[in-house]
Amino acid sequence: MTSPRPPVSVASAGPAPSAGPAQTLAHLMRPGTLQLPSLPPLSLYVHLPWCLRKCPYCDFNSHAVGAATSAEALPEARYLDALVADLDAALPLVWGRPVHTVFIGGGTPSLFSPEGIDRLIAAVRARLPLVPAAEITLEANPGTFERDRFRAFRDAGVTRLSVGVQSFDDEALRRIGRVHDGAQARAALEEAARAFDTFNIDLMYALPGQGLADLRADLDTALSFAPPHLSLYHLTLEPNTAFAANPPALPDDDLASDMLDLLTARATAAGLQRYEVSAYARPGHRCRHNLNYWQFGDYLGIGAGAHGKLSFPHRVLRQVRWREPARYMQEALAGRAVSNEHEVARRDLPFEYMINQLRLAEGFERARFCERTGLPWSAVEATIERARAQGLVVREGDFVQPTPRGFDFLSDLQAMFLPG
Ligand SMILES: C[S@@+](CC[C@H](N)C(=O)[O-])C[C@H]1O[C@@H](n2cnc3c(N)ncnc32)[C@H](O)[C@@H]1O
Ligand code: SF4
Repeated sequence: MTSPRPPVSVASAGPAPSAGPAQTLAHLMRPGTLQLPSLPPLSLYVHLPWCLRKCPYCDFNSHAVGAATSAEALPEARYLDALVADLDAALPLVWGRPVHTVFIGGGTPSLFSPEGIDRLIAAVRARLPLVPAAEITLEANPGTFERDRFRAFRDAGVTRLSVGVQSFDDEALRRIGRVHDGAQARAALEEAARAFDTFNIDLMYALPGQGLADLRADLDTALSFAPPHLSLYHLTLEPNTAFAANPPALPDDDLASDMLDLLTARATAAGLQRYEVSAYARPGHRCRHNLNYWQFGDYLGIGAGAHGKLSFPHRVLRQVRWREPARYMQEALAGRAVSNEHEVARRDLPFEYMINQLRLAEGFERARFCERTGLPWSAVEATIERARAQGLVVREGDFVQPTPRGFDFLSDLQAMFLPG
């Protein structure tokens, strides 16, 4: 799947010998073999793990609330207390660093009340120095909103809404087990466009039974809302999901590839530039939060199952919070939200960097690789040269950029940087 959740640490990395919760700052500041000349921009990811129902294709850390969205089913106040405790305990690791973006993701964050989101953003602002005009995104699902709810999220400080539409076709939505229909998706987008200067629509393609004409209709409907940002994901069958156990018939690879060509051509013609493998934006509307992931920036991740990546002058630390919401709340309230953490091994950093950075159409500058990984350019030079010889990247001066062929074979290109 190519969705924009915080990138997960590569499986090959595994916990380093230093794995274990909550290392002290003094330990993290000790000398090491990496030399990061400066720390990258810092973002904050907040995970809200509940949904009305679990979608059969979804492998995110999301849990059905059950029939009612009562306080009992969704313990909003206690969860917010846990998030604040989690943040408080994490502050020493990011002390004094400005925060550029906040992403409230899920799950279905729009199940939380506007008052709850207001409390969350106020708690973040009181503890972290958000830059002026910080981007604050909230994920919202159609079917969870009432009139004026989106406006109330905006008044709470949210600056950008990301609406998970997937399709406007009632039959397609039913086949992928969504709780909403096309009319609810359209109503949510009308409200999003009214309340926000910038918003995103998530669509998925290569859905069960979908043809090119169906996809064209979905995209045309999406474009009729003049979205500043579009995320277009190929539906993937993820392990341990209901679809993996019981796979629906899906469009074949040739059709899926034609679908992507159609999406890219039409989105581009509508003024949305494909700046990342799955993301399209009008000028000035790229998602700054996701850009920071893709440029191997830092992010503190709080909430159930949230991942984080934090840099120090001589090391890069990855953290994961307790995944199951009840356990997370219990541990976070006791000051132990982190279930696991490890330093990224030196040999894994080239792949971890490239798996993110090569998703961006504009590519990157050699200095950024050295700045973000603390490694010398020689750590990747020979592999870059091989990728260039295979037509997967181009080099111009100090810049490296994936070619259209590199984008088509992105996993192969990224895999070239796996440790030998
Ligand atoms: C964090 S998810 C959830 C957002 C929101 N809860 C929703 O479902 O509308 C963000 C996006 O990832 C995409 N996604 C989730 N599971 C996927 C899968 N198996 N294959 C492709 N895209 C997927 C969907 O487009 C979804 O909107
Ligand atoms: S609503 Fe979104 S996060 Fe929740 S189960 Fe469905 S796809 Fe997953």
